Amino acid sequence: MLTRRPRRNRKSAVIRDLVQETHIAPRDLIYPLFIMEGENQQTEIKSMPNIYRFTIDRALEEIAECVELGVQTFAPFPIVLDGLKDKYATESYHENSLYLRAIREIKQQFADICIVSDVAMDPYSSAGHDGIIENGKILNDETLEILARMAVAQAEAGADIVAPSDMMDGRVGYIRKELDDAGFTDVSIMAYTAKYASAFYGPFRDALDSAPRFGDKKTYQMNPANAREALIEAQLDFEEGADFMMVKPALPYLDVIRSLRDNFQTPIVAYNVSGEYAMIKAAAERGWIDGERAMYETLLSIKRAGADIVLTYFAKEFAQMYQNM
Ligand code: PBG
Repeated sequence: MLTRRPRRNRKSAVIRDLVQETHIAPRDLIYPLFIMEGENQQTEIKSMPNIYRFTIDRALEEIAECVELGVQTFAPFPIVLDGLKDKYATESYHENSLYLRAIREIKQQFADICIVSDVAMDPYSSAGHDGIIENGKILNDETLEILARMAVAQAEAGADIVAPSDMMDGRVGYIRKELDDAGFTDVSIMAYTAKYASAFYGPFRDALDSAPRFGDKKTYQMNPANAREALIEAQLDFEEGADFMMVKPALPYLDVIRSLRDNFQTPIVAYNVSGEYAMIKAAAERGWIDGERAMYETLLSIKRAGADIVLTYFAKEFAQMYQNM
C-alpha cells in the first residue's frame, strides 16, 4: 500500500479549502484608474474591455463602488491634454493640473482610502519619455528634480504613497529627501524597482496616449533577460528608503517576484499590467478560456510567487467575484 497519498488532502471541497496555501482578498489589490478632463463621462479603452477613462466625478462613483466591495487602494493615472505636454513635464506640478485636482477630490470624499500616485514624466512629456531629453539621450540626474517636484505636489494634494515608475537611477533617495524637507515624512514611497522594457504595456500607452514618440525605453527600463540585475535595483531602492518594492510586469516575471521576496523584507508589489489583462480578456471574449477562472488563477499565481500586493485592472471584477466565493 502507498503510505503517502497526497490525494487525501484533495478529497473534498472543505479539505481543499483547509489546505489552501495562498489566499487573495480585495484588500490585497490596488486598482488603477485612468482620469480624464471633463464632466460626467467615461469612455472604454478599446484594448481593455471594462476598463474606462473617467472624468473626476465619474471616478469618484467608481471608487465608491469599489470601496463597497472591499477595495481600498487606488492608483490614478492622468490623461493629459496634448496642448499641456512639454519637454519638461511642467504640467505635472501645476497646482490645478487634472491629476492633482483628482487626488484632492478623491481624498476629500474618501478620507480613509489609500492613494498611490504615479511619479513619472511620460504622461506629461511631449516626447512620451520618462526623462528630459537632450540630443536624443534621456538624462538621469536632471530628471530627478522634476520627479521630486511632482512627488511633493502629489503629497500636498493628499497622496498617501508616491510611486516613481520610471527606472531613473537615484530617484527614491532624491524623492525621499525632498519629501522629508517639505515636511512629508509620513508619505511612503512605492518604488517600481524592477520594471522591464516590456511589450505588455501596449494597451496602457493607448489609454494614456503616452507611447514614446521616438525610440524605446531600453536605456532605463530593464532587459527582460535579466534577473540578477533586479537584485541590484532592489538593493539600491531599499538603501534609498523604499517602503514598497515592485516588479512589473507580473506574470512573465514570477521568478523575479520570488527572488525579491526571498531577499528583502519590504512588502513586494506586482503590477499585473495592461497587456496581461488584455490577453485574458481577448481570449475569454472568443470563448477560448474561462475569463473568470483565468483571472483568479493569475492573481493566485502572482501571490504564490511572493507578492503581498497586486496592482491589477482586475481588482473590481475580482472583488465582485469574491463576494460570491
Ligand atoms: C510609465 C508607466 C507605464 C505603465 C505604468 N506607468 C508604461 C510605460 O513604461 O510606458 C504601464 C502599466 C500597464 O501597462 O498597465 N511611467
